[in-house]
Amino acid sequence: MFISLSFTQVEINEFVNQYHALERKVPLVAISHNARTNMSGAKLQDFGFSAQLEQPIDMGPLVKQLQQLFPDKHKWDGIEASQEAKESELELSDQDFLPIATQDFLQTDKCFFNVFVRLNANKFVKILNAGDPFDRDFAEKYNAQKFESLWVKKSEHQQYTNLSEKNASSGLKRQSADVGRRIAHLGDNVSQALTRVGLSDDNLLYADRFLEHSVGFLRQQRLEGNGFTKMLDDLANSEHCAAVSVIAGLLASHLGFESTKAVKVVGLAALLHDVAIYKDRKEFPAELPLMLTGADLELFNGHARDGAKILAEMGIFDEVVIQAVAQHHDKKTNLEGHATNLVGEIVSASDLFCHQVVQAANPQLDRFLDRELKPYRPQIEAAFRAIFKRKPGRHAV
Ligand SMILES: [Fe+2]
Ligand SMILES: [Fe+2]
Repeated sequence: MFISLSFTQVEINEFVNQYHALERKVPLVAISHNARTNMSGAKLQDFGFSAQLEQPIDMGPLVKQLQQLFPDKHKWDGIEASQEAKESELELSDQDFLPIATQDFLQTDKCFFNVFVRLNANKFVKILNAGDPFDRDFAEKYNAQKFESLWVKKSEHQQYTNLSEKNASSGLKRQSADVGRRIAHLGDNVSQALTRVGLSDDNLLYADRFLEHSVGFLRQQRLEGNGFTKMLDDLANSEHCAAVSVIAGLLASHLGFESTKAVKVVGLAALLHDVAIYKDRKEFPAELPLMLTGADLELFNGHARDGAKILAEMGIFDEVVIQAVAQHHDKKTNLEGHATNLVGEIVSASDLFCHQVVQAANPQLDRFLDRELKPYRPQIEAAFRAIFKRKPGRHAV
């Protein structure tokens, strides 16, 4: 954990106290941006810092520090330079590639991936071999040329995710191989339910990270002073909203949304989809509304449109998010002809999945896949089947 010494003493104390309260310890490193804030050896020890980086000029010293702290993480045996030649146009399948937002591209001393830019459908140019060193201004160069994403092979990315998880757990001396315990942001019920219906460990970890980013983004909005603190906390803590959000994140990833956009649009729409219900009611029946009566039914009937209105009035959300919230029950109310946007369909299908499978007393995944997704565009069913490794047709009824 890196802590900047540019914070005030009071703030640093608060961070360090929170750190000491953590059950598992990660190395704590001070960053001093200015000679005036450099700490003496004794003071570093008092705070529990294991090292101090003095006036780093860029990410380089931080990466070096990480290499020393986690040497295993930088052994990269799994991926080698692939066959394709660099700097020439290649015919490769879009299906095999995954975009990573250029500004999110992690810089290490050597590149972990074979990296491509995508010219258009199924046309790529390889720009880096795995193992190549990075230019200092690598990401800026491609950003300046308006390449919003760099592309890596899905298979390599999967290998990398597995390796990172392995290294993270060994680096932090974690004993348990139980993924459920490493899920920090999904509630116990949600992660157990997702495991029960067949979500793999990798997907579960991805889902957890996705939720963390979406909640982080909401918190950031809150910090910027729009004053909806309690409402946002209630939503972030609602199991239903969390479950819908992680399923929506997995769908978005399978449908090719690049990561930043997926978090800012799909993640937020999913977390906020039932804002009109959960802003006032911590508990609401999780099964679909057949059994609702009275005030519950009234609240349910208006909640999609009311939710969209609440978000529009807040004035900080993308129109796609607002529209997705407004439309998230349209598919289930026989409005098949209604022009829902793709984000709305992702949220709607994820919501339905959570009601009928994740939060159902008697979950029936195959029945859901075979029957319930017909009103949605076919990519949605294909993405669900890919996530749960279910072939089409086998369980047709
Ligand atoms: Fe809803
Ligand atoms: Fe919902």
